[in-house]
Amino acid sequence: MKADCCIQISNLSKKYSGNDSFALKEMNLDIFNGEIFGLLGPNGAGKTTFFSIICGLLQASSGNAEIAGYSISKNLESIKKIIGVVPQDIALYPTLSGRDNLLFIGRMYGLKGNVLKERVQECLSKFGFDKNSDEPVKNYSGGMKRRINLIGGILHEPSILLLDEPTVGMDVQTRTSMMEYLKELNVNKKMTILYTSHYLEQAELFCDRVAIMDQGKILCLGSPLDLIRQENGTDLEDVFLKFTGRKIRD
Ligand SMILES: Nc1ncnc2c1ncn2[C@@H]1O[C@H](COP(=O)(O)OP(=O)(O)OP(=O)(O)O)[C@@H](O)[C@H]1O
Ligand SMILES: [Mg+2]
Repeated sequence: MKADCCIQISNLSKKYSGNDSFALKEMNLDIFNGEIFGLLGPNGAGKTTFFSIICGLLQASSGNAEIAGYSISKNLESIKKIIGVVPQDIALYPTLSGRDNLLFIGRMYGLKGNVLKERVQECLSKFGFDKNSDEPVKNYSGGMKRRINLIGGILHEPSILLLDEPTVGMDVQTRTSMMEYLKELNVNKKMTILYTSHYLEQAELFCDRVAIMDQGKILCLGSPLDLIRQENGTDLEDVFLKFTGRKIRD
């Protein structure tokens, strides 16, 4: 594995059975220690497929991925200890409270006793759940569920955090405060953050580097500013348009 790299993707491809086209096509990508990296692309680009493969939920058709020196095909158990995963589809028990959902998730990550209880309380307060932490999740708004979903991925303080569309369905304010909190984790805890999104303007603000992908392929890669300059654009929307020939929300 290259120095400074925490995720190294080599020629990764995925074809679902019954689907003629590749969901991922010979993808190559290096993610560096300590960066915030945005994987950007429209619906069906292959973002979730990529995430599912690197966290072990899905098997690649070919190619390899190494995470902190561990190969996904051989050392999945070691990988699971150092990554936190926040899935695109909210995975919570609706009849349990936010707190009980988090206690449950924390136990799955190996946290126990008072350490677990205190960590859950700390996160609940940080994310504005002082009042509703003991209400069932089914009474929560979409944004509140998203926040609990996020906390589930960071309870065990992973060194690499993967977030699939963490801010979908949030209003602009909640979205910004979520991204600011992620930035804090990145700076204070040196957490490497890899997230997918449709929100180009948000990625421009928060990411050290981004990749724009479509149809299973990475079309361009670099810091938002470099990409914008290189394409003589004013923002990432312009870059996206140049590479894909369309707007991200078309
Ligand atoms: N279980 C599956 N079986 C067959 N095809 C699939 C399956 N899951 C995804 N695909 C196809 O693979 C491609 C990539 O899908 P994926 O969910 O990875 O995209 P995405 O970038 O995460 O999209 P979105 O922004 O909508 O979440 C799409 O063409 C999709 O239809
Ligand atoms: Mg997806």
